[in-house]
Order: sequence, then structure tokens, then C-alpha cells
Amino acid sequence: MSAERGEPIRAEQCDSVRVCLDGGWLEVGVGETILQAAERAGREIPTLCFDRRLAPFGACRLCLVGVQGAGAPLPACTTRCHDGMVVDTTDERARRVVRTVLELVLSELPGDPLPGSELDVLARRLGVARSRFAGRTHERRHDERHPYLLLESELCISCGRCVRICDELQGAFALTATGRGFDASIAAGLDSGFANSSCVSCGACAHTCPTGAIRERLDTL
Ligand code: SF4
Ligand code: FES
Repeated sequence: MSAERGEPIRAEQCDSVRVCLDGGWLEVGVGETILQAAERAGREIPTLCFDRRLAPFGACRLCLVGVQGAGAPLPACTTRCHDGMVVDTTDERARRVVRTVLELVLSELPGDPLPGSELDVLARRLGVARSRFAGRTHERRHDERHPYLLLESELCISCGRCVRICDELQGAFALTATGRGFDASIAAGLDSGFANSSCVSCGACAHTCPTGAIRERLDTL
């Protein structure tokens, strides 16, 4: 990547900085992330753990982009723009890593992603089908104790969106991230179940979940 530009603007002199995005310079607010700048410029960067209502988490690595001078692709959702930054959202190395990460995510599911879920749409968009990484898959484990919400743990990819929206937006603290690595999952009410947790049935967790692991129970509606 390379880019021609005019006189540098010092960030402390103004409330915006200039960033080169895919070959074109644009002005972005001080503190804006690459993802925010790219979205405003009409670029579609894949995301999975990101929800614009929440503080960026930077966990899934699906939003990697190339940044001139960086040793490796950087996550667009947590990397803040600085003056003179040169970003390539089509960087081939970043795209390769993203596709591999997505394959690894899919490889832990017991089957295809839930049709119509954010994960399903993303996998189709990136042309990533069932993973070539055959290995352990999550076993069926359902929490059906809540009258309106269903938790199917085998579909959980541990993006943390449900826990964060419950904490940050609703302030209910009904969900907990449990386990590590392959065994990472979500528990409601310290595993005593949704029905015995501090859940207020707002449905925010189901709304944000990108896989449908938490979703509304259609059988009780
Ligand atoms: S239940 Fe859904 S939102 Fe919560 S961590 Fe798992 S995949 Fe993410
Ligand atoms: S969307 Fe950026 S790391 Fe998940």
C-alpha cells in the first residue's frame, strides 16, 4: 500500500484527522475507529462480535484490515484512526486470515449455521462453507426453562454480545461467560437457568445473538 498526500495535520490542532482508505483520503473524527470510518465511506467490513450499541470487544477477528506499517492485519472495530493512517480493507492477507477464522468458528458447530442468522449470512457472503477443519463439535445442550427465550449452547460461538448487552444496556447481569477455549459458553443465572436468573425478559440477548444460540421461543408466543 502507498499513498500521496498533502501537509500532515496534527491531531491536537483540530477535531479530525485524515486517513487514506482504499486509496482515497477522507477526514474522520479524532477517536473514530477504522470500522466507523469505513462504514461512513460505504465499505462493508465483516464483523461478528461487534454491535454498534456496545463498546467494541475485539474478540472475533473477523474485521481484520491491512494497515500500512503494521506487522499484521489489525481489527477495524477496536483500532482508532490516526492522522496519515493508510488502510486497505481488501488486503489479501487479512482476507485469508478472516476466512480461516470463520472456518474455525464453523468447524465447532454440530451442523450448518442456523439459516438466516448473522453467522449464516456472513458465511455465505464470504463464500465460506462447512469447515475443512474436522474436529470436536459442540454437543447439544439446551436451556428451555425460560418461558420466552431458548438457549442452545451448541450454537454459541462465545462472541460475548449477549453478556455485554445484558450488562451494558439492560443492567440486568443475567448472563455469564463460562469456560475457556472450546469449552467457552454462556450460562444464565450462574447456570441455574434463565428462569432463576435476574433476567427481565427484555429479549436484548436474543436480538443481538449472531447465531441464534439465544432466540425467542416460537412455541410459547
Ligand atoms: S449466545 Fe449468542 S450472543 Fe451469546 S456468546 Fe453465544 S453466540 Fe454470542
Ligand atoms: S468485529 Fe472486530 S474483532 Fe469482532
